[in-house]
Amino acid sequence: MKSILDELKASFANTRQDILSLQEYVDGLESTPEFHATIAERLLKAIGEPRIFDTSKDERMGRIFLNKTIKVYDSFKDFYGIEDVIERIVNFLTYASQGLEERKQILYLLGPVGGGKSSLAEYIKILAEKEPIYVLATDKEISPIFESPLGLFYSPEYRDRLPIPSRKVPSFCSPWAAKRLHEFGGDINKFKVIKLYPSRLSQICVAKTEPGDENNQDISSLVGKIDVRKLERFPQHDVDAYGFSGALNRTTQGVMEFVEMFKAPIKMLHPLLTATQEGNYVGTENIGAIPFQGLILSHSNIAEFSLFRNNKNNEAFLDRMCVIKVPYCLRATEEEKIYEKLIKNSDLRNATCAPKTLRMLAEFAVLSRLAPPDGQSSVYSKMEVYDGKSIKDIDLKAKSILEYKESAPQDEGMDGVSTRFAFKILSDTFNFDPKEIAADPVHLMTVVENHIERSDLPESRRKELTVLLKDQLGHKYAEFIGHEIQRAYLESYKDYGQNIFDKYVDYADAWIEDQDYKDPDTGQLVNRAALDAELSKIEKIAEIGNPKDFRNEVVKFVLRYRSANKGKNPSWDSYKKMADVIEKRMFSSIQDLLPVISFGTKKDSQTESKHVEFVKRMVARGYTENQVRRLIDWYSRVTFAA
Ligand SMILES: Nc1ncnc2c1ncn2[C@@H]1O[C@H](COP(=O)(O)OP(=O)(O)OP(=O)(O)O)[C@@H](O)[C@H]1O
Ligand SMILES: [Mg+2]
Repeated sequence: MKSILDELKASFANTRQDILSLQEYVDGLESTPEFHATIAERLLKAIGEPRIFDTSKDERMGRIFLNKTIKVYDSFKDFYGIEDVIERIVNFLTYASQGLEERKQILYLLGPVGGGKSSLAEYIKILAEKEPIYVLATDKEISPIFESPLGLFYSPEYRDRLPIPSRKVPSFCSPWAAKRLHEFGGDINKFKVIKLYPSRLSQICVAKTEPGDENNQDISSLVGKIDVRKLERFPQHDVDAYGFSGALNRTTQGVMEFVEMFKAPIKMLHPLLTATQEGNYVGTENIGAIPFQGLILSHSNIAEFSLFRNNKNNEAFLDRMCVIKVPYCLRATEEEKIYEKLIKNSDLRNATCAPKTLRMLAEFAVLSRLAPPDGQSSVYSKMEVYDGKSIKDIDLKAKSILEYKESAPQDEGMDGVSTRFAFKILSDTFNFDPKEIAADPVHLMTVVENHIERSDLPESRRKELTVLLKDQLGHKYAEFIGHEIQRAYLESYKDYGQNIFDKYVDYADAWIEDQDYKDPDTGQLVNRAALDAELSKIEKIAEIGNPKDFRNEVVKFVLRYRSANKGKNPSWDSYKKMADVIEKRMFSSIQDLLPVISFGTKKDSQTESKHVEFVKRMVARGYTENQVRRLIDWYSRVTFAA
């Protein structure tokens, strides 16, 4: 506990305010870039240098990014599958810090619901807290709008003599600073400069504003208003009677987040325009223009954006925004990581989540977001290719990622199952069984199906999603769980597997050498034709296309192993291809397994102990006992139905 307190203490010490004289500040301008860093520069510094990642060095990423070299920002590591969105945000900040047009634009994140816009905005605000700002102050108070001391030097004859680019100097100081300067009789040295850290908590340089409804929305939530308590002491138009509590006021050098900007009435948007374009705005009283050099960050989903865009009157406004699209994650592996992150941060982290549960949900979500490819290729294959899999061997009709992307509509990923919807499905799945908190794919499918039925999607869409779920994902899962069951079952059948293996190798060896095989136990001779018949039995089940090659391959592998291991045969499952063959040989049908894997049937004691062992192994693979029971039940049902 002590270390937490120490750290906390240190972090508070870090946010302590340092005071400089104006002279020290001006003298340090040249050597201390921090003194005059803009919000874009501070954000870039907080984001840090990217890691240059040559994707050709990584099979999966190479396929996804076509072996290009990409930039990875570790500071954004909790965002998954949206590398290009992050790169675009960084580019925006880079251009803004270079003084290009972006400096005067509203950064606008446009994307579907639950696509991560708010999280990105929140994170940008967290980043904004990392670097300090320098604020004009007097002995008694800090500038109520946290303005830069540079505003004092606005007139060109002084501005141009500062050792910094003139664009960094505000076009004037605030009315507050002007009044103080007047009170000081022009003695500028009476000003101080305070170094402080932006803070979301105290709304220093970071603020968030949300539109109220059409009627009660008040522009003062942006630009501040008269503070009635001060009217006793100051006249109405006096700057000291003004309450600088609006979001723009608080973020002169920081980040102002405007949630759902287009839900706000248009009159609310005008101050934003002048603030970004001209670097100032006016308050609700006639106190003079107020400087602004911050970043305005906004976001909304597509419906609102389209509505706003379709109105011709808004053209000028749109022209002053930099729109960055934030689509859903379209890679199932990364989508799964989003869910893992959510679970890790919740009480569910200790609950059992059976293998493939998150994967199935992620695949379902991505499938629902993808535009069906043209031609013969299936949307499932497209999902796999987007996820960086190489599936040419499995699906001959699959296309390359480039082909899929090129033929996809422009707004792919802006529609479909939302992350938040997926989260809801997950919590319902974990709580589906009143007896235990745990999730598995079978419950997941039931929950998803219910949600689809209850949703207000059009009938045809509901049908499509149900087909994806049941036919594609359900089918894949049956294959997977069948394999899991076999594996757990198999381990109690090691000897059986080894016997099949050893015999296969002996037979194949004799067959290759063109000799009769003499059984060491019985002394019986097996001729070449009989050998071939026995070997084929196994190969047929496993659908081995070219038995001759396969026999050679296996025998070669075994001979090599023997010579390195004092003549011993390898374990039956050490050669992947052969292990698959033997598994198939052992269980040509689920019926063979049923006595051992099923629950509740009468068993002899030997089968019963095998059953117990089997369940134990399944639990070790990540299932609860209830789940094992249910999944086996489900599996037998679907395989018998087929
Ligand atoms: N690509 C992603 N990487 C990591 N987390 C993500 C990603 N996309 C969404 N999320 C998570 O999904 C949840 C919902 O995201 P968020 O609230 O940011 O969405 P939004 O776009 O603001 O949605 P809305 O339009 O409904 O306000 C958050 O917990 C967020 O962390
Ligand atoms: Mg949001």
